[in-house]
Amino acid sequence: MTFNYSAGELQVRGHKISDIAAQYGTPVIIYDEMYMTGMMERYHKVLKSHSIPYSVSYASKAFSSVQMIKLLESQNMELDVVSVGELYTTLAAGFPVEDIHFHGNNKTAEEIEYALDHGVRFFIIDGLDEIDLIEGLASGLSDDDGVNVLIRINPSVEVNTHDYISTGQEDSKFGLSLTNGAAKTAIDKIQKSRSLNFKGIHYHLGSQLDDSTPFINAVTNVYSWLDEHQIDLEILNMGGGYGVKYTEGDVRFPIEEGFDAILNHLKEVTAASGRKLPHVMIEPGRSIAAEAAITVYEVGTIKNIPGVAKYVSVDGGMSDHIRTPLYGAEYEVVPVTESVLDTSVSSHVVGKLCESGDIIGKNKMLPDDLKRGDLLAVRTTGAYHYSMASNYNQMRKPAVVFVGESGVREVIRRQTLDQLIENDVR
Ligand code: LLP
Repeated sequence: MTFNYSAGELQVRGHKISDIAAQYGTPVIIYDEMYMTGMMERYHKVLKSHSIPYSVSYASKAFSSVQMIKLLESQNMELDVVSVGELYTTLAAGFPVEDIHFHGNNKTAEEIEYALDHGVRFFIIDGLDEIDLIEGLASGLSDDDGVNVLIRINPSVEVNTHDYISTGQEDSKFGLSLTNGAAKTAIDKIQKSRSLNFKGIHYHLGSQLDDSTPFINAVTNVYSWLDEHQIDLEILNMGGGYGVKYTEGDVRFPIEEGFDAILNHLKEVTAASGRKLPHVMIEPGRSIAAEAAITVYEVGTIKNIPGVAKYVSVDGGMSDHIRTPLYGAEYEVVPVTESVLDTSVSSHVVGKLCESGDIIGKNKMLPDDLKRGDLLAVRTTGAYHYSMASNYNQMRKPAVVFVGESGVREVIRRQTLDQLIENDVR
């Protein structure tokens, strides 16, 4: 674990969390940069060890910011975007456009045009009508190499995760069906088009998956379908979804053994049908960023309802922590300064927003002597926290800080009050 206690104080790489909170205020999201680069290296290492062409494309929806994108570039990562906003952020960071992949189940004409104008030439097609849309907009391009496309399909494999983050099944707004003919129709259409180059298949099975079984089943299903229809591909994109540990009960996706198993299976399947190994792409998001960060809050009102519950309110809430209200996600909540008392008491940690569902964690064991002004840290908040933050109750989005080899630096400043109304007509 990257955030540990030393002399009774939570710290990261030798920096006291309380010092960082004092400097940047609360709520603040604090990332350990080296945890993230370490995760990127692990993906590179295991894929490289199989001597296959590959790329690791970070899903920027997990957490995106100019400094994050610069960090990704320094680690030879490629990058996925799903909106013109994610693309804009990526380009603003100077990320190489040839390494950007455009995803999304409803890319608008404006987004496609913007992406093409800025040099994006790699799209993941997620609907039949999108083929005509991209073809129409790409046909006017002056460069004649065309636009590379994958099609997103549903490999119909079972996954064991929350319904809202399970995506590879037949009944889904994402992807094209292998069984009802949509995927085949898409490939035929692309192969006939003048501006699009069919490069291969993409699927994303779901999130927070803890073993390689669904990935192995997807390879089996996809290659039997490719064999049946005699389709060749250059690129196989297996998506993301590699699980992380939020609480004791969670199992991390075993990156090294998991990819050994998936890639060995891929080698067997391709050899059996006399095919070349494809370029393998993967799209981890959460597993790179989630465990790299904590959110630090200051405790405010504490409400003890005798015989009922103890409520500890903090200075943020569902505006920066939506995963608990939305998915019932569980987190570890710990005091930044260890209590000298040995007694802890079950407490509900809640936010300051006007919703009963504004809960960070129920029944968390926290020091009995916790008081106003103390700091609490919520672990594993590096993915889908800042990126899902809102301004509900006109809350300002928190500050984000990276701790790296060069020390502590702010990478996103806290929103200002002025920014809350900057688009308001006055
Ligand atoms: N590739 C595609 C096409 C995706 O749709 C996703 C996530 C990823 C890659 C990255 O998946 P990851 O490795 O981060 O699990 N808001 C939800 C997560 C939604 C994920 C959607 N797609 C949450 O907070 O759990």
